[in-house]
Amino acid sequence: MWGGRFASGVDAIMEAINASIGFDRRLYAQDIAGSRAHAAMLAAQGIISTKDAEAIREGLLTVLSEIEAGNFPFRTELEDIHMNVEARLKEIIGEPAGRLHTARSRNDQVAVDFRLWVRDQCDQAIEGIGALIRALLSQAEAGADWVMPGFTHLQTAQPVTWGHHMMAYVEMLGRDMGRFQDARARMNECPLGAAALAGTGFPIDRHATAAALGFDRPTANSLDSVSDRDFALEFLGAASICAMHLSRFAEELVIWSSAQFRFVRLPDQWTTGSSIMPQKKNPDAAELIRAKIGRILGANVALFTVMKGLALTYSKDMQEDKEQVFDAADSLMLALAAMTGMVDKMTANRAVLAVAAASGFSTATDLADWLVRTLGLPFRDAHHVTGSLVKMAEDKGCDLPDLSLAEMQTVHAGITGDVFTVLGVDNSVRSRQSYGGTAPDQVRAQIARWKERLA
Ligand code: ARG
Repeated sequence: MWGGRFASGVDAIMEAINASIGFDRRLYAQDIAGSRAHAAMLAAQGIISTKDAEAIREGLLTVLSEIEAGNFPFRTELEDIHMNVEARLKEIIGEPAGRLHTARSRNDQVAVDFRLWVRDQCDQAIEGIGALIRALLSQAEAGADWVMPGFTHLQTAQPVTWGHHMMAYVEMLGRDMGRFQDARARMNECPLGAAALAGTGFPIDRHATAAALGFDRPTANSLDSVSDRDFALEFLGAASICAMHLSRFAEELVIWSSAQFRFVRLPDQWTTGSSIMPQKKNPDAAELIRAKIGRILGANVALFTVMKGLALTYSKDMQEDKEQVFDAADSLMLALAAMTGMVDKMTANRAVLAVAAASGFSTATDLADWLVRTLGLPFRDAHHVTGSLVKMAEDKGCDLPDLSLAEMQTVHAGITGDVFTVLGVDNSVRSRQSYGGTAPDQVRAQIARWKERLA
């Protein structure tokens, strides 16, 4: 492709470190789309003939079908997808192929190909998150009023509803979706036509190629166009946060499906057995989802590290962007799909959740609130009285509602039988009607809001 200046070919190890075709072949569809848009624009601007543009178009379609049929002769000595496609085009259509690269460089070519690919992954992530949100909404709807323990420090804190807990993840995933939408909107500018770095003297129409490729507009600065990888970093940032959320949920599923908790039963399709322990049903999918953040955040750190300190504009360092993003995107899509499958089919153990919700003195706060409301105690005093009652129950080995009124009155003489109305978990969750609280009505309102948003 640049034989003119060189007397010999490259060392075999140079070829190994330099070639990207082993991985950037994944950009073939984007590369061909970019070339088609470029050739059509060159012809429309009178830079190449319509006849040559037509030959290029036909040839590129042949290349596309060869790649898709799996019989395209990829060649490592041609370095990357861009040169592989162009060289094959030359074999197929001859001389006009050499006109395709007019007013273009591989620097803007790779920038446009990769942006198109990452943009598509944003769309896929948005879709995958949407599917997971829908699965969570079904869980939340079924169990809007099922009580379960809410935790802080993984210690029983206050009763909440299953629906409320599911909806917490819906909120996180909604923000994740927003991050991919924002990133997509920001990256939707076309770098094609920046050429190597300075623009070109040919009378190209960058607005036409941008529109043909579904971009909102061309990028505004040619130097920035070929050296920017923010779009990939934003994708990895959004992916890292989303993977972190999935990891937290996966951890809860691992805990909840254990014999000690039994909060949920994971579907057989999403668990594995043990080769030695016949009773085992291991939550492998959840564990692997929990782990994917490692690769995804790793990719994020890797690309930041590659990009930091790079002088403008393009440097070959930037070829190291693709494998990281490919792997992170694959990992995220797989984790989203696996989580969706699991959430779709898992069953919450309502009875176990209810027993757990009522244990661990989970309504102690309700008791303290009752002392404030009914007896007019300052909250701090009420907290102290309740603490003494909890200690009494703990010493007796019972729960708060199991204490008799007489026993309670030894701690505070003003307590009346009415106190028992607030010690039940159902009353507790129903009372938490503050906006965004765990009361079933609140949860149902949030579910309705989300259904509307997704519709
Ligand atoms: N394979 C290269 C990459 O992925 C394409 C751009 C190469 N440009 C260049 N001037 N060597 O970054």
